[in-house]
Amino acid sequence: MVKRKLCEPLENRKGSLYFDGFSVEELAQRYDTPLYVLSEKRIRENYNRLYDVIVSKYKDLRIYYACKANSNITVLKVLQAEGAYLDAVSPGEVFLALSSGFVPDHILFTGTSVRNDELKFLVDAGITVNIDSQSELERLLKIAVPPTISIRVNPEIGDGHHDHCITAGPQVKFGLCEEDVLKAYAVAKKARVERFGIHMHIGSGILNIDSYVQAVKKLLAIAKRVHDELDITFDFIDLGGGLGVPYHPDDDVFDLPNFVSRIVSLFKAKVKEYKLGKPFLCIEPGRYLVCDASILLTAVNTVKITPHRNFIGVDSGFNTLIRPAMYGSYHHILIANKLNSQNEVTFDIVGPLCESGDILAKDRELPQIVEGDILAILNAGAYGFSMSSQYNSRPRAAEIMIRQGKPVLVREREQFQDLLTRQQVTQQGE
Ligand code: LLP
Repeated sequence: MVKRKLCEPLENRKGSLYFDGFSVEELAQRYDTPLYVLSEKRIRENYNRLYDVIVSKYKDLRIYYACKANSNITVLKVLQAEGAYLDAVSPGEVFLALSSGFVPDHILFTGTSVRNDELKFLVDAGITVNIDSQSELERLLKIAVPPTISIRVNPEIGDGHHDHCITAGPQVKFGLCEEDVLKAYAVAKKARVERFGIHMHIGSGILNIDSYVQAVKKLLAIAKRVHDELDITFDFIDLGGGLGVPYHPDDDVFDLPNFVSRIVSLFKAKVKEYKLGKPFLCIEPGRYLVCDASILLTAVNTVKITPHRNFIGVDSGFNTLIRPAMYGSYHHILIANKLNSQNEVTFDIVGPLCESGDILAKDRELPQIVEGDILAILNAGAYGFSMSSQYNSRPRAAEIMIRQGKPVLVREREQFQDLLTRQQVTQQGE
């Protein structure tokens, strides 16, 4: 018998998988598949673990939830109730945040390639903009002089789990490099902007924090120059998100005490040494807060043994979870009712889309799988639903959340009718 070690909110009850107290097979039966299942409790735990450990070292702390990871408004409301702030990258995310009870003051907009009408929308809504280019700053100041401005710095050191997710460094489109940062603050100050922040986000899925430490050093050195040369003090210094989570059973867990002892201590020491006053320390985690708080349930449609490979065809493809196809990401997969069974066969888990790259997992050693089995794809809470699509005209999945001991539908499954939304039918010749 093979007993796999499961972490909360997962549980092995006599070989059957439970999530936050509920049998996943029963959830799949009741709500159908593909189904994202979220745990409110786990989201709250993740937030509080992070908050408590940092605030014990530095009390002026703000955690901005990077809602691109999962923008379901119930998730937003849960984090808002915990006291989170919010990082938005589009006016749509700002709209969702305002709809979920975040006040404008608690939202920071960090967009790139931003349109003028979007800047106007942000200024009118009273949202602080984190500037990504000289052009954006000039265009913003023509619309209005906001009370606060923050500049996104490219510290020229990046990191991340995949090239697409490294968001700083010489080849990357984001942020301003040192000399341009100084010029931008000078322009903002001259325009009579009164309050300032400074920001970086070097990438996503970071487990080894060496480069993060180097980037924080660089950011704070730039903050010192801005302070010394332009007499600007910062209300906040935002170190971005990027905190990694383990996806593979052999991955290290994110070492939170190490993060705090290296990054928060460095922050405190440099703020003091550089006489930067009492800025808020801000971070912007997305993945860390929601990733392990959700699984994706998918049903087995087909077992196909070929002379070359063994394929398990399920009802979720890269329309439902794109990370494996897009980044080659590993997501651990469990068979809901076979947690105590021996691994016997090597399978590829593939979706229903008409593309050969529609693969959720390759070369997985798993117990025997039969049609009708329910598979649980772990760590699906971050960049799962939020990156899903209707490709191949497949309506999007439903989402449920376990809230106060009960499953609650938080997003209905899309129907065929949703595939027609906003399509216009015109007669020939019209
Ligand atoms: N702040 C900014 C400005 C960001 O661009 C991001 C993520 C975050 C914070 C949050 O990063 P996190 O803590 O979640 O790593 N789709 C990819 C991840 C792309 C992240 C983009 N920016 C994935 O599925 O791995």
